[in-house]
Amino acid sequence: MTVLVTGGAGYIGSHMVLRLADAGEKVVVLDNLVTGFDWAIDHRAELVEGNAGDMDFVGKVIAEHAITEIVHFAGSIVVPESVENPLKYYANNTATSRNLIEAAVKGGVKHFVFSSTAAVYGMTGLAPVIEETPLNPMSPYGRSKLMTEWMLADVAAAHPITYGVLRYFNVAGADPAGRSGQSTPMATHLIKVACQTALGQRDKMAIFGTDYETPDGTGVRDYIHVTDLIEAHALLLERLRAGGDSTTLNCAYGRGYSVREVIDTVKAVSGVDFPVEEGPRRPGDPASITATGERVRKLLGWTPRHDDLNEIVKTAFDWEQHLIRRNR
Ligand code: UD1
Repeated sequence: MTVLVTGGAGYIGSHMVLRLADAGEKVVVLDNLVTGFDWAIDHRAELVEGNAGDMDFVGKVIAEHAITEIVHFAGSIVVPESVENPLKYYANNTATSRNLIEAAVKGGVKHFVFSSTAAVYGMTGLAPVIEETPLNPMSPYGRSKLMTEWMLADVAAAHPITYGVLRYFNVAGADPAGRSGQSTPMATHLIKVACQTALGQRDKMAIFGTDYETPDGTGVRDYIHVTDLIEAHALLLERLRAGGDSTTLNCAYGRGYSVREVIDTVKAVSGVDFPVEEGPRRPGDPASITATGERVRKLLGWTPRHDDLNEIVKTAFDWEQHLIRRNR
């Protein structure tokens, strides 16, 4: 049994590689290293450099390494960028996934785990969503991911492959042992931007929109620690291997924090009162998106262990300091 992790050199994928390698699994990483880093890949995994959408190439990788499962992280993830450059998202997310899925089917891969997103729901109001909440993505990013969800459902109905879709809410934090974290220099993630500002790598930061229909007027998100998110992947893989049906699950804690609350937490954890400006709304952003996370707990027995905003911020902040030392 060898697991192929696409995007294994990236933020979330590199944590999956650690989790699989820690469990003694054989892991092959497929990454084009456009946004990921080879140094982020644990030494116990093998890196194959290339594109997840290159069907012939992936077919060879599957055959050569006797791949039985694929965990597919590779893709583009920035909501506002998808509004400006939708075709990039339909290429890197939808078209790449289509070819990867075909290579998986042809290569006899048994199980496929896909990184989807809360962005498939779109504007949901302030109540937490469940998996049955109507899907109405408001960005090309959300639509590019939803199309892959649909493809997987159609393909699994026609071929002997089972899949798990995990809809991520706002993934943040870093490996508590300090082995990996969010390393993209110009990442747009709120917690990363705030940590970088606290550390003086940015002069200031902005709050994107203060006139939302939320308690303090700023955007509300359900921040989930990357290590808890990865545990859901491991449990899902276990379930699929045991013969479990294909399934779609929200990965969230069920508690939303506003942009102001997150910034205050970063200020408290870092001990730095950095400059924050109030700016206009960012295109493609919903006011609030949180989920109950009940189904993932029930179905997989998932129990979050890092569901504390202070801990999320502390691990992200520690990682940012590590990156500064590393890049000196
Ligand atoms: C993030 C993910 C997306 C995922 C979604 C799920 C990234 C890059 N995006 O999007 O893939 O589908 O969660 O909910 O990982 N903000 C500021 N100032 C900043 C940066 C952000 O005010 O400098 C605000 C945003 O307007 C938003 C919140 O902070 O209200 C979170 O933004 P961000 O961290 O960029 O994540 P999402 O856009 O929610």
